[in-house]
Amino acid sequence: MKIKRIPSGINGFDNMVQGGLPTQSIIGLKGPAGVGKSIFAMQFLLQGAKNNEKSVYINLEEPRTNIDRTLDSMSFGKEFFDFEEKGLIKIICLNFSEFEKVYPTLLEKISKDKKIKRLVVDSFNCFFSYLNFDKSEKVNYEIRKILSQSFYSFRKKDMTTLLLLENGSSHNSQLNHYVSYMVDGLIHLDYISLGNIERRAFVPKMRWTKQFDSSLMLKISKKGILIEDDD
Ligand SMILES: Nc1ncnc2c1ncn2[C@@H]1O[C@H](COP(=O)(O)OP(=O)(O)O)[C@@H](O)[C@H]1O
Ligand SMILES: [Mg+2]
Repeated sequence: MKIKRIPSGINGFDNMVQGGLPTQSIIGLKGPAGVGKSIFAMQFLLQGAKNNEKSVYINLEEPRTNIDRTLDSMSFGKEFFDFEEKGLIKIICLNFSEFEKVYPTLLEKISKDKKIKRLVVDSFNCFFSYLNFDKSEKVNYEIRKILSQSFYSFRKKDMTTLLLLENGSSHNSQLNHYVSYMVDGLIHLDYISLGNIERRAFVPKMRWTKQFDSSLMLKISKKGILIEDDD
């Protein structure tokens, strides 16, 4: 069976994954604060809209005004807003109490709407902690149960889901550990050292794919993210 792939929308990235991200897959996009995860996600959604696919962006970290400001600072911002107006991109910003109210129906709507081909959850760590708000002790069983329930609704025919994952803190490490096994692919964005800001992109895991086996340089400008060979 030939694996169907979709363009990521990130210049230079698709070469790292045999031409594109597999459809019907859940991909983790992991990295520290400020490395470019949300911008990567916006370009991923924009690419979907350019291909006439419906894209949904669930943001649980930032208010709508922040997203607008980021888009305003990017050269593709206007195009993004135009697609939103046409209904091809849907941005859903929710705080904790809003999320609590809408999340079961929201997931159901997403899994029933066959037109949605791209979904982003920014961040999945927020999504997960909101689901767990009343449990002080997250035993392994609970974590796995909740993960498998939410993954069930994310894994849909012809849809590609991007879950943004925060790096590091011990609070997140157990979740990230399980998620990294359960996702179909992992894209890791990172800084290589202190001093100059030098970002790198690496693909440690991509099911059904012979992925690029070294990291590449990642640059952010007004035009968005660019992945480049070192030279
Ligand atoms: N218009 C811009 N031009 C150049 N770099 C930008 C621009 N907007 C944001 N950035 C860079 O992107 C970073 C934020 O990226 P973001 O995707 O929000 O990170 P993350 O979601 O991983 O925390 C900023 O710290 C800045 O370095
Ligand atoms: Mg972000």
